[in-house]
Amino acid sequence: MKIQLKTLSFAQACTEKSDALLILLPSKLDAKAVSKTIWPWDSVVQQALVSNDFENKAGKTLSIYMPAGVSSRVAVLMSAGKGSAKDVRDAMNAGMAALKGRSVKKLTVCLGEDSQSQYLPIVMQAIADATYVYTVTKGSATKDKSGRALAQVTIGAVDAAKAKTAFAHGQALVAGQDFAKEWANRPANFATPTLLGEAAKSLAKAHSVVLCEVLGPKDVDKLGMGSFASVARGSNEPLRFIVLKYMGGAKTTAPTVLIGKGVTFDTGGISLKGGAGMDEMKFDMCGAASVLGTFRALAELKPKLNVIGLIPATENMPSGHATKPGDVVTAMDGQTIEVLNTDAEGRLILNDALSYAKRFKPAAVVDIATLTGACGVALGSVRAGLFSTDDALADALLKAGERALDLAWRMPLDDEYGEGLKSNFADVANIAPPGGGAVTAAKFLERFTKAKGASGEAAFPWAHLDIAGVAWKGGKEKGATARPVGLLLEWLLAK
Ligand code: BES
Ligand code: MN
Ligand code: ZN
Repeated sequence: MKIQLKTLSFAQACTEKSDALLILLPSKLDAKAVSKTIWPWDSVVQQALVSNDFENKAGKTLSIYMPAGVSSRVAVLMSAGKGSAKDVRDAMNAGMAALKGRSVKKLTVCLGEDSQSQYLPIVMQAIADATYVYTVTKGSATKDKSGRALAQVTIGAVDAAKAKTAFAHGQALVAGQDFAKEWANRPANFATPTLLGEAAKSLAKAHSVVLCEVLGPKDVDKLGMGSFASVARGSNEPLRFIVLKYMGGAKTTAPTVLIGKGVTFDTGGISLKGGAGMDEMKFDMCGAASVLGTFRALAELKPKLNVIGLIPATENMPSGHATKPGDVVTAMDGQTIEVLNTDAEGRLILNDALSYAKRFKPAAVVDIATLTGACGVALGSVRAGLFSTDDALADALLKAGERALDLAWRMPLDDEYGEGLKSNFADVANIAPPGGGAVTAAKFLERFTKAKGASGEAAFPWAHLDIAGVAWKGGKEKGATARPVGLLLEWLLAK
């Protein structure tokens, strides 16, 4: 899907040769005030408003088939509501829904107000989301790599020159989210740790600004990552530890580290999960996919930033070699862990990645993980759980999420939540008694963000995003959402 940006008035957009034309009306619009500024749509909008066939509310659309003097087969007028980011997203979703089932290869989207161009990433994301097609393991659709019927999009802005930065952000976002979705959606036999490592390598090969190193079991043993290795023990697939580097900033600038949970399939291990819906545990690498997607976006945009990506990738399987409940393992930083439940494996791979991150003396570390079902219970699929030991970092992430409409909600980290992690046989247990499961998991991770041992000074400002509730949709719409690529990119670019 090619997207181009042009300066277009509504009148000029009518002469664009497209299959469909989406018109985002200005936010200030009422029957009496509909003016020539929306010409040639003024009279039809005026009449539709008067006769209640149209309402100026985000999500309301008016479709016109073969409108006179328009080069597109169909025009869809979209109310921009009050003109907020959310209104623009709702408008675009409704506009794209109105085109569903029609054959649209060429699309023109025309924005009616200069101020709307700041929302180009949101507009472009809506187009990409609505037209995304999963292809990898669909025999019929594999000829066209992207699978999208929509091939060409023209976006008309009031002033294309002024909209350039937002457009470039949108291009990077779409590329990043597509990449994240492709890898997150792949079944586990098409997204093994090895294949994930190869995906990262080929990303680096295709974009020289990205560097990639992939470590295997021997390297991980040498590093002393006994916790990470203990999760991989039950699987025939060898683990991978993926290190991505994007160094677009000054050499002296401390990097930001993103860590993505890459459990390519989570059976629970010896603490085996129930069978119902277990297929969805192929999505247990959505944190990793979001890191890959963010790097794909950075490669596109090339901002002056330093970012490191760390992905511990493994399956969590039961077998004769698997770690057993009660086994004690030693993490990279020397802490011993009693593995009371092998299904609490995400924290066992992330802790070693957190320890590894220290070598970069990072300005901030954010880990992204489908960590706990409890977080999904607490926040549903609207907001991700955000845990942080640093108020400024938490604030910046929350605000980026609001701007990108990729929402998070801050959760607590009171020390009392960590008390249940005490073990009689190791420094810490990997689970606490029931209650506050998303928080106790975060408290476990927090122990590995300290400069020395489990208590004391922080080694770096740290935040943890539990995306278990938001990373994918179930049911008929089953598939990855690419969240939180939008939040991460927005946050990084605001730096
Ligand atoms: N990957 C799961 C978390 C998960 C569950 C995400 C359901 C999305 C939907 C994680 O590894 C896990 O199994 N967590 C356990 C922790 C428990 C054993 C303390 C959970 O949430 O049940
Ligand atoms: Mn698990
Ligand atoms: Zn898991």
